[in-house]
Amino acid sequence: MSYSSSYTAYLASVDARKAKLSATLAEVLRTDCAFKTLEIGSGHGDFLVSYAQRYPERFCLGIDLITQRVGKSNRKAQRLALANCQFLKARAEELLDCLPEQWLWTEVLIFYPDPWPKKRHHKHRLLQAPFLSQLARTVTPDACIHFETDDVDYFESVCQTVMDHPDWQPVEVEPYIVDTFFARVTGKQGHYAVFKQLAKG
Ligand SMILES: C[S@@+](CC[C@H](N)C(=O)[O-])C[C@H]1O[C@@H](n2cnc3c(N)ncnc32)[C@H](O)[C@@H]1O
Repeated sequence: MSYSSSYTAYLASVDARKAKLSATLAEVLRTDCAFKTLEIGSGHGDFLVSYAQRYPERFCLGIDLITQRVGKSNRKAQRLALANCQFLKARAEELLDCLPEQWLWTEVLIFYPDPWPKKRHHKHRLLQAPFLSQLARTVTPDACIHFETDDVDYFESVCQTVMDHPDWQPVEVEPYIVDTFFARVTGKQGHYAVFKQLAKG
């Protein structure tokens, strides 16, 4: 198969980004914490900073695509001298590909992911079956995904996708209180769900 030179350049840039991300992860991931929380799309870092303060024994990593938000979040964690909380600029799908062998998340938090409300843009939504399969390979068997959104259509489609998925099921678990920047600006009611892996074997 032959690729155009621009596609080859794109693949090379993804490889370079992933190599850099793997090296960064080797430095920041705390292997001494048994409980490992990943927040995807951590935004301004409000949730994870107060969560890490509340649970100092848990290692917390927040990732986001926007450089300024990651910088602001790290400054919040540093002001509180939190040794268990770190933010990185990374795309979720790439981060999951770059984790060291044996690394498994205990918990994944996804609060107010970009809703992509127009039907023709739904393909950009993060929480879809292939991503749920990728997540299942990088979490502990009893791990939970906590998910909140104000977009009813997105919420319903995610719950349906989970119910149709071979790895995940919705469960009743005490929700966290999500007082994030986007939860506040939307002004709409949040819809919360928790998903757990189906027992294998
Ligand atoms: C609507 S904001 C919500 C931020 C935060 N969770 C809150 O509730 O305030 C969604 C965030 O997800 C980030 N994001 C979108 N797709 C992402 C991806 N594939 N990987 C990591 N972050 C992503 C965006 O950059 C944005 O900051």
